[in-house]
Amino acid sequence: MSRFTGHTVIVTGGASGIGEATVRAIVREGGKVLIADLQEKEGEALAQQLGDAAIFQKTDVTNEADIIAAVARAEQALGPLTGMVNNAGIIGAVGSITETTVEAFDRTMAILSRAVFLGVKHATKAMKPHGKGAIVSLASSAGVMGGLGPHTYTMAKHGVVGLTKSAASELSGYGIRINAVAPGGTVTPLTAALTGGDTEAITEFIKSSTPLGIPCLPEDIAGGILYLLSDEARFVTGHTLAIDGGITTSVLNTSFHHDDSEILLHAGQRTEQ
Ligand SMILES: NC(=O)c1ccc[n+]([C@@H]2O[C@H](COP(=O)([O-])OP(=O)(O)OC[C@H]3O[C@@H](n4cnc5c(N)ncnc54)[C@H](O)[C@@H]3O)[C@@H](O)[C@H]2O)c1
Repeated sequence: MSRFTGHTVIVTGGASGIGEATVRAIVREGGKVLIADLQEKEGEALAQQLGDAAIFQKTDVTNEADIIAAVARAEQALGPLTGMVNNAGIIGAVGSITETTVEAFDRTMAILSRAVFLGVKHATKAMKPHGKGAIVSLASSAGVMGGLGPHTYTMAKHGVVGLTKSAASELSGYGIRINAVAPGGTVTPLTAALTGGDTEAITEFIKSSTPLGIPCLPEDIAGGILYLLSDEARFVTGHTLAIDGGITTSVLNTSFHHDDSEILLHAGQRTEQ
């Protein structure tokens, strides 16, 4: 018996990047998945590859009726909903706050924040009668500190962390756990777009800007998502799990251990050694 045998999970944005890695990992561990994404071709192709364990439903996560339909189809085709992964995302509005339009702001918030609210709302409605379930939403290292993403993205991801904390005690009463993961830079089509699709360049950038000095792959994030969805995390709720190679551990984003003499001298903190 595998860790996700008997589980039915919806993964929004499951046709690409972190979502795709999550879909594949759940299926590998015996679960069934509804891939809810706007990208029809990619989503259908992934579902076909995975056989009976996965179905695709074209979904715009900003549209409440689409979320309701995805939940209904998952339960009807695959079984009672046990997991919801609110993962769909974009980078959204970029640039100076003075140049950010209300339209770009609203669109970004709708995909990154309101959609998470909708996913939590309708997954909870479905899970309540079963008295059990687990919800995991994608925050970001930009959801726990400033300077790691554009303004609207940062605001939206802080909102994801906030809802995760806020909803935890209400949902506990129904046997439902809610958690978030906060990835640092991860090599996916979303970040590759920042280097004009050059995967090697974004991999190198993530490596060099992360204390651990290795590139984060979608599978690294999927591992955390699966833990939080699984019964191994049965006592964990309201938590945001950083999977970021250490990027949120230090404002200096460097380690005294690499060359303590220079840094400690400059900080005027050198003690006798
Ligand atoms: N890649 C990173 O470095 C990183 C870091 C922190 C957080 N995240 C978060 O992880 C999540 C996944 O990102 P990724 O890097 O895998 O991106 P990605 O671009 O590879 O995949 C995102 C998926 O979301 C889908 N999507 C976008 N808008 C949608 C909508 N309105 N309705 C339905 N689906 C929609 C896209 O079609 C795509 O398949 C996002 O929420 C992102 O903010 C990513």
